[in-house]
Amino acid sequence: MKKLFTLLLSLCAFSASASVEERMLQDFESYQVGDAVDMWNIYNSDISTSSAIVAADPKDASNKVLHIKSRSWNTLVALHDLGITAADLTGEGRFLVFDLYRPSSDGAYKQLMIYCGDKRVYIDGSFVSQCPPERWTTKCYQLDASTGESGTLCLGFNSTDAEYYIDNVRIVDVADFGYDRSDAENSIRHYAEQCGKNIGIAVATGDANFFSAMNDDSKVITQTVSSQFNMIVAGNEMKFDAMEPEQGNFKFETADKLVAFAEQHQMKVRGHTLVWHSQLPGWLGAGSEGASNNNNYTRDELLKIMENHITTIVSHYKGRVHEWDVVNECVSDNSTQTLRNSIWQKVIGESFIDSAFVYARRADPDAKLYINDYSVEFAGNNKADRYYNLVKKLVARGVPIDGVGLQAHLYQGSVDSAKLDRNMKRYAELGLNCIITELDISLPTSQFGSQTAYEKQAADYRKIVNVTLNNANSPSLLIWGSSDAYSWIPGSTNYTRGEPLLFDTYFCAKPAYYAVRDAYSARATTMALEEVLNAVPSESLYVDVYNILGQPVRLHMHRSQIYSLPQGTYIIDGKVMNIR
Ligand code: XIL
Repeated sequence: MKKLFTLLLSLCAFSASASVEERMLQDFESYQVGDAVDMWNIYNSDISTSSAIVAADPKDASNKVLHIKSRSWNTLVALHDLGITAADLTGEGRFLVFDLYRPSSDGAYKQLMIYCGDKRVYIDGSFVSQCPPERWTTKCYQLDASTGESGTLCLGFNSTDAEYYIDNVRIVDVADFGYDRSDAENSIRHYAEQCGKNIGIAVATGDANFFSAMNDDSKVITQTVSSQFNMIVAGNEMKFDAMEPEQGNFKFETADKLVAFAEQHQMKVRGHTLVWHSQLPGWLGAGSEGASNNNNYTRDELLKIMENHITTIVSHYKGRVHEWDVVNECVSDNSTQTLRNSIWQKVIGESFIDSAFVYARRADPDAKLYINDYSVEFAGNNKADRYYNLVKKLVARGVPIDGVGLQAHLYQGSVDSAKLDRNMKRYAELGLNCIITELDISLPTSQFGSQTAYEKQAADYRKIVNVTLNNANSPSLLIWGSSDAYSWIPGSTNYTRGEPLLFDTYFCAKPAYYAVRDAYSARATTMALEEVLNAVPSESLYVDVYNILGQPVRLHMHRSQIYSLPQGTYIIDGKVMNIR
């Protein structure tokens, strides 16, 4: 970037109303290559071993960037005289943004810290690296309010062995996100509730520092998650390695925060996930597919480990976690084989699935228990059919399973509504729910920024919501990530695909957002009280009235009293009714 202090007013690509304003603070073009930029240590003057030197961009020699080596704790880059105050860095819809590049020689990132003068305005205490090696990535942060009056911005990674480049430190102001987070009546959540459905979202630690931001109502991510969704799932924080990092020593703190957040905002929680071959703790000695049983567990020993894990966690959240992915990704990708070669399958055999469901059912008889997998969305496809056949066998042998999860990590253009509908219906015939658990619909990098591609993606989202609306056994749909900046897709496709979600980096609504909202609102119906009374069979002199979360509002209410219910959505006599 060549110009300092430019003021750009650009129309956001997504909506006629969403607008984004960008103010460049420092692009290093006025420096010479080799110039040193000041560093500052928060606690002492020991900056001697670290350095911040203007250098040529490793990807584009004509561009100047800042090359930082951090060799002592708490040592940040100090950008002076930016003409800003702390107040300029915070505010409704305002983000601090910079580009970050990490050479392959870099050690692991530690905490990211940002100071305005000597006031800390951001810390990511458990920084999850989302900057792939040898690639520029845009990083976007909503800072904490500070009273500090200073034109100096200090930022960097708190580390003794970090090496990284930054460029284009800027302020981005979103004047309009394209949806109103304070308008509860015009949210995806509201319309989904009127259809009797759960619309969920996955959040993870690295997403705009969510687990720190969740109690701060001024944070856009907090507002978006709670205003648009009525269900939540942890992207990583309830997995085996997170919950039982040492054998028998359970860590509930982060997951507890998520559950408390959900309760505060009347959202349901999906628990993800109890038994999986991946993201297992080191002590289990086999955290990937095909890994051998390094600890030489006997069948009984591994069953005990599984039982203890499931019983402890499911009991801890009894009555608070609405449903669990009990077994995740157990079906093999190899078409000649049924089950994946996980440690569970190898040591226990197929009945590990049965045992897992039994342990979960015993620990919380009211929680809905799911199996979950990917590439199983469309009936007739090989893995989808092998999944179905497995589930059919589980049902036949009395495994306590309530539903089937289809992850739905999809490519734009791959959605086949008829096959998805057939899949949901064949599970209904087995007496099971069938829900979409991890929806994302990715684009190839060549289509990033293309309005046409976003529209096609939106059409795919709409198709999926419509299929779920046509199937009563599909009560929930969850989206795997809060914004395109935090999607797992780029990393898992070697950066060949991405931008798969409803919101862009700045949480502006994409066409997919409107498509999902419209799909629900088109089905949402409201009833006048007389219609509600007509919908309740006349022999039901007394009715049980629940709210949309299934919590009792009035039990054994005389039908003449239905008139006294305030406007809202209820489950009366087992039917969802919206009283206006
Ligand atoms: C992914 C997370 O989103 C990533 O942050 C993590 O690095 C890997 O796992 N199927 C699942 C999810 O069941 O748990 C995975 O989540 C995505 C695929």
